[in-house]
Amino acid sequence: MARRYLVTAALPYSNNRLHVGHIAGAYLPADTYVRYLRACGHDVRFICGSDDNGVAIEISALQESSTPEQIARRYHDRQAADFAALGIAFDVYGGTHHPDFVALHEQFSQDFFKRIYDKGCFTKRRTKQLYDPQAARFLPDRFVRGTCHHCGFDRATGDQCEACGQMIEPLLLKNPISVITGQPTEVRETTHWYLRLSDFERPLQAWLESKQGHWRSHVLNFALGQIKQGLPERSMTRDITWGIPVPLDDPDARGKVLYVWFDAPIGYMSFTAAWCAAHEGDWRSYEKWWSDPDTAIVHFIGEDNTVFHALTWPAMLMAEGRHQLPAAVVANNFLNQKIGGELQKISKSTSSPDAPVWIEEYAKKGLDPDALRYYLTSQAPESARTAFDPEDFVTRNNSELVAALGNFVNRSLTFAARYFDGKVPDTAAQTAADRAHVAQAAHTLQKVGACLDEHRFRAGLEELMAYARLCNEYFSLRAPWSSRKDNLPDCAAAIATCIHAIHMLAIMTWPFMPGAACRLLRMLGVPDSPIRWQEVPPLPAGHRLGEPVILFAKLEPGALG
Ligand code: MF3
Ligand code: ZN
Repeated sequence: MARRYLVTAALPYSNNRLHVGHIAGAYLPADTYVRYLRACGHDVRFICGSDDNGVAIEISALQESSTPEQIARRYHDRQAADFAALGIAFDVYGGTHHPDFVALHEQFSQDFFKRIYDKGCFTKRRTKQLYDPQAARFLPDRFVRGTCHHCGFDRATGDQCEACGQMIEPLLLKNPISVITGQPTEVRETTHWYLRLSDFERPLQAWLESKQGHWRSHVLNFALGQIKQGLPERSMTRDITWGIPVPLDDPDARGKVLYVWFDAPIGYMSFTAAWCAAHEGDWRSYEKWWSDPDTAIVHFIGEDNTVFHALTWPAMLMAEGRHQLPAAVVANNFLNQKIGGELQKISKSTSSPDAPVWIEEYAKKGLDPDALRYYLTSQAPESARTAFDPEDFVTRNNSELVAALGNFVNRSLTFAARYFDGKVPDTAAQTAADRAHVAQAAHTLQKVGACLDEHRFRAGLEELMAYARLCNEYFSLRAPWSSRKDNLPDCAAAIATCIHAIHMLAIMTWPFMPGAACRLLRMLGVPDSPIRWQEVPPLPAGHRLGEPVILFAKLEPGALG
């Protein structure tokens, strides 16, 4: 049954290049899911864009002696190119401060804020905040560093602790230091508007409990655990200049902006509206995606975003009241990396030797995007942290993609080219075993589909590869090189069966490795779009195949080094 899906991937802060950890966390599973849904015939929009506001961008601007506008624009463009290089294809790649999107985004964010304000869900409060006297400014969020008051991690930032994932109360940070001047901080008074998350504890809990058995348990456990501890009030405004002005006619609001975690998720909505404006002539048709229960909204995120997508954002949506809650929040854990045999957190520093594998560098080497997609999905940190190991990447490329999938395709199609004039041979002599092998392909398609429906990408890819290995064994067992000499009809049936298996493999490969899927279809002499997630009839005998090419290139050790 066809339905509508709005799939989002976390908006990356536009102050950095993307590395394999980002891709494995949210963007690759989201793209895989979208390709699968589309192949199933669903109506899908895939939304992403850059998170341009907030302290992170301002800090980068200070560090690079630039302006937030310039930083946001520069990294927006580079990140968009990184996604494109890996075949991650959004319908819209917006930006919360991008010139093409900022007006609509500001309108959406300010309306959202005012509606919540009018409903009385904010508390205006005079509070104490950390302040840097030398820089003469308040130090919200990442402008301050210190020791986490939950877990003792010594480099927590004022918004969130990287080690334990919990929200930070800046005044409780131990030994707080200004990131701007490196000096100890002072405390001064200011005014902010707080969303009373505690008002939403019960509905959030009921909603999350209704997802038991559907959502990943680490997401539910984390969110329900936070509710059990009690949800604090959260300030939704900030004393900085870069961002969206607080839309209140109140002298205390002057010079303040919305908290970046308030406006960023609204970006999913405003970018949808921008898509509607560009393609349907009216931004208002975004409601079809955001308010109509026939649309399922699915957010893909990394683990550090869980608190915002499973608690704060749904609470904002409940408070605002005109839009629906996400059907699913799919979070991956972090991807670590293995360097010189040692497991490390991927750091953002460019300095070797612990520099991450940057997507830009990967693309510059001319390596196959699908090889990286394959490795990152097969190592996907879906339920626990996993590691990116450059040597393992090469090994698995060679022993799995090249030796299993690629080899089967190559042996079958070069055989057909050489001995059957590049045409699909006749199946008249197909045996029960051949028919069972064909049935196995349809069964695998179903199993892979079931995995993808449940966001189990890694398991889906394993099913696919298990079938590819089976195909290789089948080829060896059927030994067409021998039957060619004494039983040509039997040889023909075996090769025709292999060709059908390749056709089915191409369909299953599409969500995971779209480039390889297209190569497969072209080798079969079949159009490479549209791709439908369904069993195809066997190509008729005599159908002209395309030119066989190498499906995956073998890599040398150190290919990434
Ligand atoms: N910029 C955030 C990060 O990189 C993610 C924002 S997701 C959104 O961690 F919901 F706010 F858009
Ligand atoms: Zn912590």
